[in-house]
Amino acid sequence: MAKEKIILTGDRPTGKLHIGHYVGSLRRRVELQNSGEYDKIFIMIADAQALTDNADNPEKIRQNVIEVALDYLSAGLDPEKCNLFIQSAVPELTELTFYYMNLVSVQRLQRNPTVKTELEMRKFEGGTPTGFFCYPISQAADITLFKATTVPVGEDQKPMLEQTNEIVRRFNHIYGETLVEPSILLPDNAACLRLPGTDGKAKMSKSLGNCIYLSDTAKELKKKVNSMFTDPLHLNIEDPGHLQGTYTDTEGVEHSYQNTVFVYLDAFCQDSDFEKFLPEYKNLDEMKEHYIKGGLGDGTCKKFLYNVLNDRLEPIRQRRKEYEKDIPAVYEILKKGTEEARKVGAQTLAEVRHAMRIDYFDDKELIAEQAKRFAEANK
Ligand code: TRP
Repeated sequence: MAKEKIILTGDRPTGKLHIGHYVGSLRRRVELQNSGEYDKIFIMIADAQALTDNADNPEKIRQNVIEVALDYLSAGLDPEKCNLFIQSAVPELTELTFYYMNLVSVQRLQRNPTVKTELEMRKFEGGTPTGFFCYPISQAADITLFKATTVPVGEDQKPMLEQTNEIVRRFNHIYGETLVEPSILLPDNAACLRLPGTDGKAKMSKSLGNCIYLSDTAKELKKKVNSMFTDPLHLNIEDPGHLQGTYTDTEGVEHSYQNTVFVYLDAFCQDSDFEKFLPEYKNLDEMKEHYIKGGLGDGTCKKFLYNVLNDRLEPIRQRRKEYEKDIPAVYEILKKGTEEARKVGAQTLAEVRHAMRIDYFDDKELIAEQAKRFAEANK
């Protein structure tokens, strides 16, 4: 039998999902789901991972599990085609993590660039929680418990995949071929790798208040798009505009910037949007050309971006509204997905225990061997 193609990916439920998640991962997941190329798809709400740095705020996680589930479903993930499940409800993950801990050194974890950056950012009072420090190991368990071949994630997750593959190789080397090495599947459009916030800052983040959420209303969307960062040097419509550049602030500090409206257009707009919303241009290249030459105002660009985004978000809002009418059914979807995840996970874990030779009760040979040894000793 040809090797099965299996997807696993997920998100920490620390907030509602925004359009950065959409272009960076959700949109792709829906395409992958509908491609029919995958035998199994697991999408995980990583609540246990979210708790590694939110131990004192479980309510935040509890509230956001359902938000993320609604975001998934409204973005077009179809419970008939993929298993949506909750991480903490699959105890097999915890057990696997515990075995993997023996295969990874503290020093190796300390070198993980993602963990390093996060530690610098978060500045945990009272020291780093051990669970947080070890989350790359638990993430390796998330992926390998399902024998995932394909992990669609953003670029920031690269170090996690590298760490996972090291664990897989080490495990298979010591205990025999059991686990599958996964490949990362990165977003295909450069603008999607990391969508900046509406203020032009490097990343969309709830605490910076620069996110556009999938669940934003048309009115909220319009307000956010209208206040977006563009080109600080483009003061009059007739001035030449810049898609990126540098400017000096009032304190004389130089900043490089990207024109956020065009970054978003790169990520979202299609040629067909021009026909519908801005027929003066055939495509984004023509529009950019005019902007750079001068004569195209930011207001027009923003209006177009609003129309494009609203067009993408409207079907998502509609689906969300439907699912919101029957929240118990959404939990039921998660429960079903979790049951399926546990079934697959239990199978892998049985193989893992067997490979590690800790499947004592199923190990007939071991029992016979020990019986014989003690019988001989007592002769
Ligand atoms: N770390 C991922 C994030 O921050 C979430 C996650 C947890 C994940 N386990 C995973 C992603 C396994 C892919 C595969 O979004």
